Amino acid sequence: MSMNNSAYALRFTPLLFRLGVAVLVITLLGGYIVSGLHLRWHYENRDEVPGLSMNDIIGAYHGVQSPSPLVEALESGHPETLSGAEREALLGWLSGGNLSGDYDNLDLGEDAPAEIIAVNCLECHTRGATGEGAMPGVPLEYFDEIERIAYSKDIQPAGENIVAMSQHAHAPTMAVILLVIGALTLTTRFTARFVGFVLFVAAFGLFVDMAGWWITREVAWFAHAIVIGGIAYAMGTSLLGALVVLDCVIPAKRCPADG
Ligand code: HEC
Repeated sequence: MSMNNSAYALRFTPLLFRLGVAVLVITLLGGYIVSGLHLRWHYENRDEVPGLSMNDIIGAYHGVQSPSPLVEALESGHPETLSGAEREALLGWLSGGNLSGDYDNLDLGEDAPAEIIAVNCLECHTRGATGEGAMPGVPLEYFDEIERIAYSKDIQPAGENIVAMSQHAHAPTMAVILLVIGALTLTTRFTARFVGFVLFVAAFGLFVDMAGWWITREVAWFAHAIVIGGIAYAMGTSLLGALVVLDCVIPAKRCPADG
């Protein structure tokens, strides 16, 4: 047992003190869940695809450049059945400045993109398409479906001053929270060795996470390290917090004063 012989063991402190500590730690961890949600909302649309993905994180810290899938497909000669003139018409429309306006522009008649797509693409590219060689995963039936893959993406990372400002707010707070919870956990009935292990993993995770904000600017794959480090920190801190709460609310077997 860790600090059972210590003068100060959390579980032998007065009940109201322990309940106070428990409520504080629960508040802290609750704050974490909220800030996790905030992170999600903040980053999930970086790549204009709903949901938080690795691309959003890479976009935020490194930037993402990817060409329009629609232009790529057309330029690569897909589908073979499309005539040269129609291909030119579609590519011209995609490189023009009025994607939504020209999509079903009546003045263009049969050259209107909506017409060309309806005739040449929809047999394969609707959500319900089932025929041979169909691609229901890339529907092109409605404009908003087309719009989603029409643009090339150029996501810029946050500026260095923004990253520095954000780190200035986050790094000290997150480190101090872990220090305080770690110190508290050391006064619980759980072994110092186990607490030390969890503390180290969480602390190292935070370090990697924070360093990763800068490294990822240069090296995109390091975004994974940001995520893994962040998860290690969050889980380690939550686990230590949970141990503190448990130690506060589970009555001690006997008081050291009893012998
Ligand atoms: C005969 C069926 C068929 C037709 C017709 C067809 N496609 Fe496809 N399309 C596919 C299949 C299958 C794939 C996936 C495999 C591939 O890339 O060849 C695909 C892939 C694509 C992709 C790539 C999606 C991605 O995420 O990279 C785009 C964009 C696309 N098609 C656009 C079009 C457009 C625009 C037309 C009409 C001008 C069209 N397709 C006509 C079957 C079809």
